[in-house]
Amino acid sequence: MCGIIGVAGASEHGAAPPLLDGLEYLTYRGYDSCGIATLANGRVERRRAAGRVANLQAVLKDAPMAGDTGIAHTRWATHGVPNETNAHPHGNAEVAIVHNGIVENFSSLRAELTDAGHEFETDTDSEAIAHLIVFHLRRGLTPEAAADAAFARLRGAFAVAAIVARAPGRIFVVRHGCPLTIGIGEHQTWVGSDALALAPFTDRIIHLDEGDRATVTAAGASVRAVDGQPVERPTVTSSIVPTAFGKGGYRHYMQKEIHEQPIVIGDALRALLDTRAMRAEAPDLPFRFADIDRLILVGCGTSFYAAGVARHWFEELAQLPVDVDISSEFQDRAPLFGPAGRSAAILISQSGETADTLAALRQLRAQRVPTVALVNMTSSTMANEADAVVAIHAGSEISVASTKAFTAQLATLACLALAAGRARGKLDSEHEARLAAELTAVPAKMADILAAQNRLQDVASDLIRAPSVLYLGRGPAASVAREGALKMKEISYIHAEAYPMGELKHGPLALIDEHVPTVGIVPSDPLFTKNASNLAEVNARNGPIILVSDDNGISELGETARHTIKVPHSDPFVAPLLYAVPLQLLAYHAAVLKGTDVDNPRNLAKTVTVS
Ligand code: F6R
Repeated sequence: MCGIIGVAGASEHGAAPPLLDGLEYLTYRGYDSCGIATLANGRVERRRAAGRVANLQAVLKDAPMAGDTGIAHTRWATHGVPNETNAHPHGNAEVAIVHNGIVENFSSLRAELTDAGHEFETDTDSEAIAHLIVFHLRRGLTPEAAADAAFARLRGAFAVAAIVARAPGRIFVVRHGCPLTIGIGEHQTWVGSDALALAPFTDRIIHLDEGDRATVTAAGASVRAVDGQPVERPTVTSSIVPTAFGKGGYRHYMQKEIHEQPIVIGDALRALLDTRAMRAEAPDLPFRFADIDRLILVGCGTSFYAAGVARHWFEELAQLPVDVDISSEFQDRAPLFGPAGRSAAILISQSGETADTLAALRQLRAQRVPTVALVNMTSSTMANEADAVVAIHAGSEISVASTKAFTAQLATLACLALAAGRARGKLDSEHEARLAAELTAVPAKMADILAAQNRLQDVASDLIRAPSVLYLGRGPAASVAREGALKMKEISYIHAEAYPMGELKHGPLALIDEHVPTVGIVPSDPLFTKNASNLAEVNARNGPIILVSDDNGISELGETARHTIKVPHSDPFVAPLLYAVPLQLLAYHAAVLKGTDVDNPRNLAKTVTVS
């Protein structure tokens, strides 16, 4: 989603060079245009470009920018096409603003300001903010008061940073429904959409509370609560390591992040698994698994698919009924939570900022359902608002397509399911120890899968010619199939559809012919025989099969497959963690062969902060 970076009091080279660096870092959020505004010689200067940061760099080479204070933005289009005119910062020689989120009342503001003589240039909702500040400046308000008056008129979810020609060295910001973070540097102060955006510049972070406004100068930030009263917000040390940003010799962040999985899963397991006692350590939760009779798992996209896998674990190992919900759907229906204290919810989110999951969290809290944020970003809004936080320890995930966060979510949820099983008296210690041992073997098995990646280029080269690819799995593998199909479509733009294996005869079989490959996710587990007969149906209709299975599965079904992808044998419990990896690699290689922008696929954002 859109990203903000700003600096007050930049070095002797001025604000533009570090802001350009900051924009480069922000590209992990997904964007389609970008821009910078600085304060120089008593006026606001702006440079903007459609497309990549490199395009903006070229603009700045021809027309450099002076000034030690400035704001910059990567835009992910919501209102208005992604072109230079609609790129942020918006404004004029008096004022410039950058904005994340949505201004819901922009139509009425635009009409009102147009009546007052303001001329709008763009199709964006954001431009109204710049005009509002100009309007209040012209009424004689100070720059700070004009910014606050403008912010007070906005409805919706927004984070805004503004500069005003009459206020050199200052940036005015507001946080309302979208995160905004201040970073304290040596001789300058930073503004960023999140702590990750600021990681290359500083680890001393101030998280603004909902409704906060602040005036940022090189010396620091003075923060006002929504009622205008000065407030102190603590400065905390962020644990995000900026070196995590390098690609470390890999061609793409996604490739690097896929290869980090053995280490990441080790970290995720270490946090919750006592490997001497071979049992899961239950983290501090706002409920006891033994006391609830329903667990609600909520997330979007990849995080939702992690929930789909985890449902099987909680139901089987803890005999705990589970509802799995897509966050956006959850908000729009009237879910029933049963007697007070008998339900609990886990909100799953890599970023901890996804608008729909955040809305679901707030809805659950309003209904007094105890909530846990299972997140990667532990300084996120969800982590702050939930009753408890469980970290997945995936480290910074830069590529828009989520990979290591998915498997780290699975590893963490698997440990919680073990803890739940024990707490509810459904999992004896011997069984738990056996499953814990299976989990500890996952990193090494993932490393084996990664070592075999070159063969997958051949498979991928077959897939890129296909009009569509079908992914099939049964039980937990149905959610792994959905995740595999999502990876394929989002980065390679090849249409991919996932179905639970048993649904094949109820419609999707009609798609099968010699041109439509089927990726069958088929561990040799108790579901194998059923899966084998479904794949026979595909084979009978000349559908090319890509069989993802272990040695046993391949020796039984390999002959009918066009390609086989071998996954080390494992207990069915941990199979989802392993089978996810070749599907990620398959999508990655298909995207590379197609020449797409792997880390920043078109139309997508890393963090979706609007509903
Ligand atoms: C897919 C992907 C998205 C996210 C989804 C939720 O590769 O990254 O589907 O999983 O937008 O994001 P989080 O987990 O940050 O809430």
